[in-house]
Amino acid sequence: MKAINNRLLIGDIPASDLVRKYGSPIYAYDEAIIRQRMRDLKQGITYAKLMIYYALKANTNLHILRIIREEGAYADVHSPGEIMAAEKAGWKPEQIMLTSASVTNDEMRFAMDHGVLVNCDSLSQLERYGKLNPDSRVCVRINPDVGGGHHSHVITGGPESKFGIYHDKVPEIKEIAGKHRLKIVGVHQHIGSGILEPEKFRLAMNVLLKTAREFSDLEFVDFGGGLGVPYRPDQKALDLKSLGRMMTETFSSFCKEYGKELYMHIEPGRFPVAEAGYLLCTVNTLKETPTHKFVGVDTGFNHLIRPAMYGSYHQIVVTDRVDGEKSKIVVVGNICESGDAFTRDEHGLVDRELPEIKEGDVLAILNAGAYGFSMSSNYNTRPRPVEVLVKGSESRIIRKKEDEEYLLYGY
Ligand code: LLP
Repeated sequence: MKAINNRLLIGDIPASDLVRKYGSPIYAYDEAIIRQRMRDLKQGITYAKLMIYYALKANTNLHILRIIREEGAYADVHSPGEIMAAEKAGWKPEQIMLTSASVTNDEMRFAMDHGVLVNCDSLSQLERYGKLNPDSRVCVRINPDVGGGHHSHVITGGPESKFGIYHDKVPEIKEIAGKHRLKIVGVHQHIGSGILEPEKFRLAMNVLLKTAREFSDLEFVDFGGGLGVPYRPDQKALDLKSLGRMMTETFSSFCKEYGKELYMHIEPGRFPVAEAGYLLCTVNTLKETPTHKFVGVDTGFNHLIRPAMYGSYHQIVVTDRVDGEKSKIVVVGNICESGDAFTRDEHGLVDRELPEIKEGDVLAILNAGAYGFSMSSNYNTRPRPVEVLVKGSESRIIRKKEDEEYLLYGY
């Protein structure tokens, strides 16, 4: 967090100036942070044949995608819509992979017609894929029986998870692949999201590599995303250097044994964009009950659902009074539900120590660049806000606020 004269800066611009210029609420992104996080990844994971597939679901804004592509990433997509977004951002079909759950034949056909590699999530999908596209290349998603993540909703490995083909089903995978002459060119896993302990990745990696040994035509192994970022001011960042060292060593010795230097794919979504994004909003209501001091703002879980959905912590800053005498406050949104609070955990409201707040103050909800706008909705018939990109002391609109036509008619 950057502040000068007690004012929060985004790039070199005071955050409240952005609200003055573009209105409230707004999503603002700092381009320099996105580029820096992409470079951190490349410097942390030094395996020579590393390919970073950015998981579009974290943030699909086309301008942000272009920045990430310029930094050398490829595209991990979940739907035909994300294939279209990736293409618009400039990725070529061979730089895109579709990993999706409960996929329809139409969705697979869309990917095939666009020349995008399909990663099959189940034996039944592999069977359908083989019928639709025999004699082709394909990837399979493995459930390595290891899961991790910041909340049970985002753990995607282990017996409770709907994702992937259990790692003990290799004979079945081979049988289906043989029947349809499919070449398994990649094995993939994604064990969960918001993981801050390298150990989880090590455990899962070892299972996936054991599975990978069973396939002789591999071109790559994909270890998925899940790299966490610190949301709380006192939280320690993921040790990328030691994660990178472990991944490079483990994978290099696997490749030696396998007899071929394979590509290592990773699929970070949150990591490059989370810390670059701010949801800026304005205080319009103050009230007290016997238990809490409430501050009401002009945005809600329609724009950032993570606190309501997972009890996620997002740091909140009074943009023009970053430091000041603090008191206990609950920050709530403008949505017609009591769960609509930005200071809460899984169980309910949690007071936050914040400087004095007045009506008209601009608040910044930090680390909102991943799964913020991309999970937003029109609930309570409110438009999604404008998205603004900041580069140093310049700012520009990268997606308009939704207008009345869109809100009422969908176009
Ligand atoms: N690859 C696959 C196949 C995925 O399903 C995901 C995320 C990723 C990569 C990227 O994961 P990341 O690096 O961002 O952790 N809405 C939740 C996160 C859900 C993640 C879903 N899959 C949140 O706000 O925490």
